[in-house]
Order: sequence, then C-alpha cells, then structure tokens
Amino acid sequence: MTSANINNAMLSYIQDSPTPFHAVKGLQDKLHAKGFERLCEGATWNLQANGRYYVTRNDSAIIAFKVGNQNSLKNGVAIAGAHTDSPCLKVKPNPEIIEKNYLQLAVEVYGGALLSPWFDRDLSLAGRVDYRTNHGELSSALINFEKPIAFIPSLAIHLDRTANEGRKINPQTEMAPIVLQLIDGEKRTLDDLIHHQLIAQKHLDVQKVLSHELLFYDVQPPNVIGFDQQFIAGARLDNLISCYVICEALCNSKDGETSLIVCNDHEEVGSASIVGAQGPFLRSVLERLTGSSPPEEFSRFMHKSLMLSVDNAHGVHPNFVNKHDKNHGPILNKGPVVKLNANQRYATSGFSHAVFSSLCERVGVPYQSFVMRSDMGCGSTIGPITSAEVGVKTVDVGVATFGMHSVRELAGSSDIHLMAKVITEFFSSREWL
Ligand code: CO
Repeated sequence: MTSANINNAMLSYIQDSPTPFHAVKGLQDKLHAKGFERLCEGATWNLQANGRYYVTRNDSAIIAFKVGNQNSLKNGVAIAGAHTDSPCLKVKPNPEIIEKNYLQLAVEVYGGALLSPWFDRDLSLAGRVDYRTNHGELSSALINFEKPIAFIPSLAIHLDRTANEGRKINPQTEMAPIVLQLIDGEKRTLDDLIHHQLIAQKHLDVQKVLSHELLFYDVQPPNVIGFDQQFIAGARLDNLISCYVICEALCNSKDGETSLIVCNDHEEVGSASIVGAQGPFLRSVLERLTGSSPPEEFSRFMHKSLMLSVDNAHGVHPNFVNKHDKNHGPILNKGPVVKLNANQRYATSGFSHAVFSSLCERVGVPYQSFVMRSDMGCGSTIGPITSAEVGVKTVDVGVATFGMHSVRELAGSSDIHLMAKVITEFFSSREWL
C-alpha cells in the first residue's frame, strides 16, 4: 500500500470508529475480509496450523492472530498491542438536565481529556445500548447518531473577562452538552432519543432500553491537512492510528510464524478491567494458543516472544520546545519513536530497543527516541502492564503527535506508512531470536 492509500483507509476507519465498540467492529470487518475466522471465548477452540483467527471481549477489545506452520510455536509469538479507547465525555445513566427548557445531557469525563477543545464543536453521540426485545429477550446494538445533535457553547467573553487567563473548567457544572430546546410542557428523555435512533437503524424489536454506554464525539471528519498535505488532523489518533496500523501489518505480513495483535480497552483509565491490559484476556488467548502444553512449554514460548506496544508519542511542539528534553524531541514525519523511561512507565529495555532499531534499519525506516524531561512526570501505555502480566519482552513505540488527548490531534502524514512497514517486517521475521 502506498502512503496515501494507507492514510485514506485509516482516516475512514477512524471516522467510522467514534467509540471502542465501533473501533473493534471496524477491525473485525477488516479481519473477516482477510479470511480470519471468528472464535468465541465460551466455545472449544480447535486451532489449526496456518489458521487465522480473532476473538472479541465485551465488543470493546479484540485479539487476532495467525497461527504459524507446524513447528512455529517454538519460535514464540510476535505481538503488537494498542488500545481502542480515547479520552472523551461519557453520558451518565440518568443524564437529563432541563434548564430554561434546554435539554442537556450530563457527562462524566472518561480518561485524561483536554477539556477546552470540546467547547463550540458539532457533537454527536455513539456507543452500545442494551435493551429488552418485544419477545422479552436481552439484546444489544451499536448505535451512532452520526448527525451533529449536541453542542457545548462557550460563555461569551463579555460575561467572563478573565476567560483568556487560564480559566478552570468544572466538568460537573459547565460541560453538559445541549441536545435540544423543549417546547413548553414537553417531556423528552435520552431513552426517547435512543429508541428513535434504534428504529432508524432498523432495530425494530425494542421494547425497553435497559442501559447505555454512550460517548460524545466531534463529527468533523479526520483529514490530511497542511499546505503540502504533510499532516493528519483528527479525533482519537491516540490510539486508533496504532489499532489500524497493527491490524494492517498483521494482514500483510508473511505467513509461517505465529503473530498476534491485541487491542485493549480502558488504557486511558488505568487498564485494570476485564478488557484492559491488566486483565486476563491476552494471557487466556496465549494459553489456548499454546494448547494443552505443560507450564514449562508456555514459559519457553513466552521467553521466545516479543511485543511491540504501539501508542502515540509526544512530538516536540514548535511553540513549546522547552517541554522536551533537548536530545529527545521527536519530529513529525521522521519515523517511529521508541519510548524509554528509567522508572518503567515504558517497557522498552536495551535489548528490545536494539531489536526495534535493527528492524527499522533492515527496512530503511528512520527512527527516533523519546524520554521525558527529568523534571516532569511521564505517561504510560499498555506496554509495562502487559509485559508484567504475561512476561513478554516489550518495546514501546509510537507515531509522534501534537495535542495528545485533545478532541482533535495532529500527526505526520508520512509516519503511518513508515510504522506499518516496520511492524509488517516485525511479524514476518524473528529478528530477536
Ligand atoms: Co494512548
């Protein structure tokens, strides 16, 4: 795939993935088209050499893998991991607020969101709804209102003259999006809107909505921008870029060795959940992949394995160059960034760093490195958690971006293709053995 092709395909994936549920659905569709067979965690697995499989959990996390040839398990597994969730505004269970006849929906802040970019955007709502059918059964559906149905207006500067002087934002009192203006005496609830949308999406058997997990998102599509088209602007680049790229690389890699991708949910809120990296999802799949082998064999398998934890990195922002260490300021469009931290907020070791550098050189891809300034705290990824949970050597890497956790982030348009190239090579080779 050319750089432009992969960028366009990725942008439409991101546009169709306003929530982790949709992000997983998009990967599933892609894997299915590439001949991957769906597994169910509750059924017996009968994995075949050279088979291709995927399995989801809670519709918000997914693992896909290619089983290698007969003897490939002795070469371990090449794993690439990313996360499906992004910081956002999540609708509360009983969200209706009516003030001056405006119907607003109360929200919780999910993850470490930058709040100010959420104001003055055309917002829509998407997620998963669980309902009872007309036949009394439980059912669930993904919904996406798609149209801009909500807005969080800023307060006019005339009503707050200090607005440009570092004003604090209170998410409880200042951020409930306005959804509609009620006519006097009119009563409408979120359930009415959900019901309406389910019908519009041809779910005609809804008797009662029982629960919802709905996230607001900005409807502006992601785009290739800049005078010379050198940048990608969009929501959820952290970390749907990585979800897309590792899936693409898995599909395009050579067969023969065993390769796996894992896209966890709940990274932005600490990973401790049934679908998070600190949960048992990956270990459970790895154990089933190695079959009924003794623990001794599983340990040998993990010893031979390596993981790329793929999550965006902080590019050095031209207006804030002092926020980066002088020698470790990743530049957009200059290739994948290897992330290191002495205190193990990233899982990269000297060995895994060397393996990744060597892979990049083998395929002619430039690479960079990032460490946080020594006087600033460091973020983290699923890398250290996964590495500690299943005992896999890991390297943390990512595409450089600006504005991480904003409602719209910026990346380099050449970096997607470069990252895909290295990861495809990673799956095809056994550089570290
Ligand atoms: Co991330």
